[in-house]
Amino acid sequence: MPTFGLGTWRMGEHADQLQHEADVIRAALDMGVRLIDTAEMYGEGGAEEVIGEAIRGRRDGLFLVSKFYPHNASRNGVIEACERSLRRMGCDNIDLYLLHWPGSVPLSQTFEALHELQDQGKIRDFGVSNFNLSNLQDIPEADQSKLGCNQVFYNLAHREVEWEVSAWCRERGIPVMAYSPLDQAGSLLGSPVVAGVAEKHSASAAQIALAWLLHQPGTVVIPKSARPARIQENLDAAAIELGSEDLAVLDSAFPAPDQPVRLGMR
Ligand SMILES: NC(=O)c1ccc[n+]([C@@H]2O[C@H](COP(=O)([O-])OP(=O)(O)OC[C@H]3O[C@@H](n4cnc5c(N)ncnc54)[C@H](OP(=O)(O)O)[C@@H]3O)[C@@H](O)[C@H]2O)c1
Repeated sequence: MPTFGLGTWRMGEHADQLQHEADVIRAALDMGVRLIDTAEMYGEGGAEEVIGEAIRGRRDGLFLVSKFYPHNASRNGVIEACERSLRRMGCDNIDLYLLHWPGSVPLSQTFEALHELQDQGKIRDFGVSNFNLSNLQDIPEADQSKLGCNQVFYNLAHREVEWEVSAWCRERGIPVMAYSPLDQAGSLLGSPVVAGVAEKHSASAAQIALAWLLHQPGTVVIPKSARPARIQENLDAAAIELGSEDLAVLDSAFPAPDQPVRLGMR
């Protein structure tokens, strides 16, 4: 799985923007972005339609991640949701298919459906999103180490996942996919501490936020931008190597949790 992807939340919400948004995604592919993250929830299928338009004729070599609603997590519900997503994206399979957040359907049913989809070649891998430790432990045991990722709210200013969840994933070789890696362009990007490190690397604050996440073992980032120049900027963060001094400065301004804390969610 590529360690850098493009998020698509807030895309596909307005039909008159479809072509423009598809152009943005195509520009990202031209830059070398190989992973696209989406969900049936984004624009109620609209984001998947934008992706379908953007990747027509160029599906090969792409890693598509989509997610289904917890209310579609029953055995038949997952299968039907997946078929709808495939139709919207105009492709035969999804590389990684995730339960968007924990719900009330017994996970044994959900995972049975995911196995069936995998056997039919409609998904290559499956995983979860917004799962805390206790949610992860509720997954049928045989499936726990097969998860393709746990997609969670994770950025320099929100390190809650580092309380138990990332260690659990790391021990099983499960990637942590960091969503809202720029903290949705909130105060993190205006932090003077981040600005100081950025200046030293002739980089932007967004690039330092992404470089810090990419430095964490087994971590994938999926920043969203609808602007090609920013997508290139974000992609270039992968080339930034933070030194031990940078890491210490960032760690002291944005410490990891040292006591039990709830996994954040956006
Ligand atoms: N599993 C889940 O529950 C869940 C929840 C939230 C998000 N996600 C996924 O994760 C993706 C990313 O998270 P997100 O969209 O919440 O937040 P994000 O990627 O942290 O931030 C996106 C915001 O940052 C701006 N931005 C992007 N690059 C920038 C740069 N270089 N400099 C300054 N601003 C920049 C974007 O504006 P412009 O577009 O105007 O550039 C947008 O407003 C989503 O799109 C979605 O695919 C998953």
